[in-house]
Amino acid sequence: MGPETAHSVAMSGLQRLQQFPPALRRFERQHRLVDPRLAQEIWGRQFSNPIGLAAGFDKDGVAVPALAAMGFGFLEVGTVTPEPQAGNSPPRLFRHRESRSLQNSMGFNNAGMESLRRRLARRWPPPVPVGVNVGKNRHTGLTEAEKDYRVLVQHLREYADYFVVNVSSPNTPGLRDLQQGETIARLLEVCQKETEVPVLVKLSPDMDDQTTADLARAAVEAGAAGLILTNTTVDYSLVPKPQPEGGLSGRVLRRRSFELLKVVASEVFGRCVLVSVGGIESAADVYARLRAGAQLVQIYTALIYRGSKLVRQLNEELLDLLDRDGVADVASAIGLDV
Ligand SMILES: Cc1cc2nc3c(=O)[nH]c(=O)nc-3n(C[C@H](O)[C@H](O)[C@H](O)COP(=O)(O)O)c2cc1C
Repeated sequence: MGPETAHSVAMSGLQRLQQFPPALRRFERQHRLVDPRLAQEIWGRQFSNPIGLAAGFDKDGVAVPALAAMGFGFLEVGTVTPEPQAGNSPPRLFRHRESRSLQNSMGFNNAGMESLRRRLARRWPPPVPVGVNVGKNRHTGLTEAEKDYRVLVQHLREYADYFVVNVSSPNTPGLRDLQQGETIARLLEVCQKETEVPVLVKLSPDMDDQTTADLARAAVEAGAAGLILTNTTVDYSLVPKPQPEGGLSGRVLRRRSFELLKVVASEVFGRCVLVSVGGIESAADVYARLRAGAQLVQIYTALIYRGSKLVRQLNEELLDLLDRDGVADVASAIGLDV
């Protein structure tokens, strides 16, 4: 099966599960691990464990109950754009199996904010915190971008535990040009005017350390509630046979994503919530990111290669690592290495 077909099949399966409450409950018993040592309160919300689903997996918020039952501590839906859009033409998702990585040039294919609003409203409040990752339509010019972000937040503010300003996808031409201190400050201001909900910024791994640190500081000074590090990379030297387009995720991103977490933590740790994403595939990865200053982590690619049991396994093994080191709980692990 091609990777995009496999994804649709999996999503349909999850949606079907939601239609049969006894089956959903059984799935949840098999998958969800509840332990008070994993839990944290962040932004006044309960995060039952630190492992979240990264943006792009459930762009349209169609499988929130099933993904919550899979054991995630939180979910991020989107990227959603104001208008529905088809994204780039397929094929646009490739496996680099030997590198345990993916390359995607989806281009924000999604059903638009109206559809997402309806879906989230039907099941609000969700069983775990749900963040909404927002981005501009492809046809919206860069100078008009702030209007897209404003209207997205206006439209979805009742149905988001947090928002993410996505300026780091490589698949919308020009989007990454919005990664400038003043532009990010302006986008944050525009969004924060519309909502009390925390607004985060998601950054790319492809800027140098100093530029990333400066941007992180600018975002925090402009009131960002958190930073998500990182989106996919366009460093094609990381795989032997890259496609000409699209961002790489998974194991090949692991080193850079972790490096940038450390760079940014040394700049802003304690002033906002850091969310680490990129190549996380073991409990040791999760634990190292927490110790390096991340309060939360997210996964995408590892879930594709390892399947639905991964979340529980990561949480179980994370508890073992805490025990091994005599660390009382997840909250006590955060920033131990900063
Ligand atoms: C197929 C695919 C689609 C993605 N779509 C989005 C998206 O719409 N918005 C976004 O912010 N990130 C998107 N991402 C990036 C992920 O959220 C994440 O930042 C990245 O994959 C690194 O994590 P990983 O190594 O665990 O996959 C996507 C990733 C993949 C593989």
